[in-house]
Amino acid sequence: MCGIVGILGKHEVAPIILDALKRLEYRGYDSAGIATVNNGALDRRRAVGKLINLSDLLVHDPLRGKSGIGHTRWATHGGPSVANAHPHQAGRVAVVHNGIIENFRELREELSAEGASFSSQTDTETIAQLAGSLLEKGRSPVEAARETLARLKGAFALAFLFSGEDDLIVCARRGSPLAIGHGEGEMFVGSDALALAPMTDRVTYLEEGDWAIITRSGAQIFDAEGHQTHRPMNRINVEETRVDKSGHRHFMAKEMAEQPAILQAALGFYSGLDHDGIDLPDGLGFAATDRLIMVACGTAYYACQVAKYWFERYAGLPVELDIASEFRYRNPVLGDSNTAIFVSQSGETADTLAALRHVKGQVAQVVSVVNVMTSSIARESDIALPIHAGPEIGVASTKAFTAQLQVLAVLALRAGLDRGHLSEAEFATLLAQLRSVPGYVAQALDREEEIRLLTESLSQARDVLFLGRGVMYPLAQEGALKLKEISYIHAEAYAAGELKHGPIALIDKDLPVIIFAPHDALFEKTVSNMQEVMARQGQVLLISDAQGFADAGEVPTRLQMPAVPEFIAPFIYAVPAQMIAYHTALHRGTDVDQPRNLAKSVTVE
Ligand code: F6R
Repeated sequence: MCGIVGILGKHEVAPIILDALKRLEYRGYDSAGIATVNNGALDRRRAVGKLINLSDLLVHDPLRGKSGIGHTRWATHGGPSVANAHPHQAGRVAVVHNGIIENFRELREELSAEGASFSSQTDTETIAQLAGSLLEKGRSPVEAARETLARLKGAFALAFLFSGEDDLIVCARRGSPLAIGHGEGEMFVGSDALALAPMTDRVTYLEEGDWAIITRSGAQIFDAEGHQTHRPMNRINVEETRVDKSGHRHFMAKEMAEQPAILQAALGFYSGLDHDGIDLPDGLGFAATDRLIMVACGTAYYACQVAKYWFERYAGLPVELDIASEFRYRNPVLGDSNTAIFVSQSGETADTLAALRHVKGQVAQVVSVVNVMTSSIARESDIALPIHAGPEIGVASTKAFTAQLQVLAVLALRAGLDRGHLSEAEFATLLAQLRSVPGYVAQALDREEEIRLLTESLSQARDVLFLGRGVMYPLAQEGALKLKEISYIHAEAYAAGELKHGPIALIDKDLPVIIFAPHDALFEKTVSNMQEVMARQGQVLLISDAQGFADAGEVPTRLQMPAVPEFIAPFIYAVPAQMIAYHTALHRGTDVDQPRNLAKSVTVE
């Protein structure tokens, strides 16, 4: 959600913190701020909106000091305003915070009764006020931070900076990730290793409940019980943390274009070209599983929805699928022969993490499919499977979706083989089809100019309907989600057969209806639904293949995809789902990489 950074440096830190915040801006961009210790005194600058506003402010009003903390915000308590922007300061302490303090009202009342005066509506200011009052009562900075942490309920990552302390940051992790970076005579703290990558490749990840005292000579780490502890230092691969646009106009464009290469390379981790099997980590198996439980949010949930069809069809495995924010609250019935799979690009989504914690100990194995292997979801699952997509910066998920699909496809095929549901020959045929995906995705990407032209009129629409059947239904949902997210056009997806049960009332000459319909077993039925739309003057865009167009009859607007086997069609149709949204957003002039109100990593429930 929010991104936090702290630096005890050798040089002026404000520009370095600003740079690190740029790398965290995908986490939120409602406001940003930096505080430093300058000649022993705390000083800070804060600005509403994107980081560029803070950057402008710093040009006119520079911030001096060699130690500092910074923050980029996704608003939870209190709207985007300078007063609500972090760092929050109370007397001799400044605080940056990612997460939510659940007992902030109670603390705020208590502190107000003692005479504290609050200048924001945030939960974070309560932390600063509490630590500030403890300093006033004579506690040392470390004691004040430690006692404050003991009073906080909720999920958070925090960093404290103190006036009069040029060589001290206290930081803590409870529920939200935090990494400590080690430099030569310098130390760093950040919400993720991405933020720290240009400054150091040596990183220690705090464990749940840890807090740390950081000085330029190193970090002392304490566990949740307050015992000093050791956490390993990891070398991060700086290449893997490169976050430039590589000549593309947007991160989203770059990430869509990367898909063929990523899918090709990532499949190699599970099935090398030199053999015809699928390798999974030791201990992961589906032979004894009686039911799969799949849980995720947003785009990752749609990947699971596609995978449900695959697991049922190719492995004969019953699948129960749920949105993470709903799962825990419906008393799901779990069994010790179930396998639970959690899918998350960031690996930090609070709802998915909470669902994972809910099933732990109640099912046979907890498996995660993640992009960030150091994330909480990866670390708390029994087995974590990387999707190998590389950093995804565009807020709208694209390459992570197809890379998630690929890992789930690999699992479904291997489950099919292990459970005797697929013969060796069927397995080999399907694996060969999976190997052909990158080439077909590249062909789909080649339709970009056509999509750009098609979306000119689409960008004028007020509402858009997406339809699909079978595995194309989740693709329709993904198309609608992408369009809403980055173009702000209202879009809905329906299973095509469901149209006549109500939504057909929406159809008129002004409603574009986008239909995902490869020429598969369900094609005829989808085309019947398309006819129902056309009979009511709906503006149909049919996305299909050559055979589909040959059989569909007259269609007002069409977009041709390569003809592919049914199993791999979701990968190919993901491209128009993404690209229609991208080009519609470009026509409308919206902020593609950082759409309003959103953040990449959703670490609050
Ligand atoms: C949509 C999108 C979101 C995420 C969702 C889950 O483009 O990006 O719907 O898919 O917030 O995020 P992760 O996968 O990080 O758990």
